Parts: sequence; structure tokens; C-alpha cells
Amino acid sequence: MLEVKNLIVFYENALALNDLSLSVQPGEVVGVFGSNSAGKTTLLNTIAGLTWHLKHRELRKGGQRITIAGEIKFAGEEISAVKPAERVKKGIVLCRERHPVFRDNSVEENLRLGGYMRKGSEIKVMMEFVYELFPPLARLKRKKAGMLSGGEQEMVAIGMALVARPKLLLMDEPLLGLSPAMQKEVVRAVREIRKQGVTILLAEQYARPVIPVIDRGYVIENGTLVVSGTGAELLDNPEVRAAYFGIEESR
Ligand SMILES: Nc1ncnc2c1ncn2[C@@H]1O[C@H](COP(=O)(O)OP(=O)(O)OP(=O)(O)O)[C@@H](O)[C@H]1O
Ligand SMILES: [Mg+2]
Repeated sequence: MLEVKNLIVFYENALALNDLSLSVQPGEVVGVFGSNSAGKTTLLNTIAGLTWHLKHRELRKGGQRITIAGEIKFAGEEISAVKPAERVKKGIVLCRERHPVFRDNSVEENLRLGGYMRKGSEIKVMMEFVYELFPPLARLKRKKAGMLSGGEQEMVAIGMALVARPKLLLMDEPLLGLSPAMQKEVVRAVREIRKQGVTILLAEQYARPVIPVIDRGYVIENGTLVVSGTGAELLDNPEVRAAYFGIEESR
């Protein structure tokens, strides 16, 4: 479904992605793990087209700070030069890191905004699904998103992405800053979303909490692929274990 080949993203003074290749098959849940600055966000943003957008915005101002090279194929089609909005239409939807929501808008308005490219009837069906998936949101419908807890905001952010009807859902550190109980909720949601036939590529710093839901994972360091394999294979790898299953996340 997704084929990334020899992807390179170079910001003025940083090589964020260095010849990275990975693939995601239809129906899979695939993890991308790496420490701070490893390139996780750059990878997801580049697949979603945001890096392309940033590059072109800067080009218009005369800047040449960002270089992107390599191939990104979605459903067999090369999409490297496709605008972000067009990628959403094709079914590539990104849920960005740190649950960005429209703080002054209600939960319901946020969800509706997520589906701005879809038909009203589709939005309605997906909103019902989101409320079933995250029952607390049904109760908080009319509340301003900015008033919600971090965990609830993450539910809204995931909900907005779902209302956009993803075929491939890109999730950037959905567990970041959440309590263990809330992390479990998000992991449960990932399982439910997959059951709907949505393919998922998710980035996290630590692998352990998501190992139960992923089919395969890739570990990246400084924009370079270090190792890939099934969840069990990653767990068995001593280096990966030390770096990404360390004491910190086993609380
Ligand atoms: N817009 C940008 N301009 C310049 N450099 C950037 C930009 N975005 C990211 N970088 C650099 O690219 C590298 C990869 O950053 P990225 O945000 O992709 O990593 P990450 O794995 O998502 O990290 P984190 O865990 O902190 O979210 C870093 O060295 C970062 O400083
Ligand atoms: Mg990031």
C-alpha cells in the first residue's frame, strides 16, 4: 500500500532522513521507533506531504533550505509531488504529534473540521464511529477542545483524522505525554481502527506499549534505518531492547 524508497530529507543543516526505505502492506499496523530527532516526524510529514508543502512555501520566498529526494508510492502511484490536500483525498491522513486541536472550538466542531474534504453523510457516519470508539467524547461534544485533558485531546485529534476517512492513518507519537491508563485506551483504539480496515503507520519513541498491536516495526537513528522486524524480533534484539525497551518505559 505504501512504498517508501531511498527517501532523503535534508534541512539546511541537518540530514533528517538518510536513504530510508520502508513499506506498509494493506491492513498492517507498522511502527517506527526512534529517539528524539531520529526523523520520525519528518518521515510522517513527508509521507503526508507537509514537508513538500513547507519546501514550496519557502521556495516561493526564495529560500532553498529543504531538499527532498527518493520515492513515495501509495497504492502503486508515485505521490512525492502531490499536494497534501490531494494526499488526504487519496486516503493518507496524518494525526500530528502533541494532539493539535482547535482549542476554541467544541469537540464536535473539531471532528467536523477533520472531515472538511468529505461529504456530510460520510462525516456523520465517521463521527458516530468516533463517539463509539471514545465514549468520553460523546459526553464532551459541546466542550471547548482546549479545556480537555491531554488524553481527551489526543482522542479528539485521532477522531479528526478518522473523520477524514483514512485508508492509511499516520500517527505521530499518539502516546506522548499520556498516563499509562490513557495509553492503553489509545492502543485499544488502534486495534479497533485497524478492524475497520484502516492501515496504520505509527511513530513512537518507545516501542513497548505498542508492541501488542504492531505487525512489524522499524527502528531509525539519525534518519537511518537500523533494524526492522516483527514486534517479537525487535523485542529479541539486544540493542533495540536497551535503547527502546529501557527502564524508562517499563514503569
Ligand atoms: N522544519 C525544520 N527545519 C530544520 N530542521 C528540522 C525541521 N524539522 C526537523 N528538523 C531536524 O530534523 C531532524 C529530525 O527531526 P524530527 O522532528 O523528524 O525527529 P523526531 O524523531 O520526530 O523527534 P521527536 O521525538 O523529538 O519528535 C532533527 O535534527 C531536527 O532538528
Ligand atoms: Mg517528532
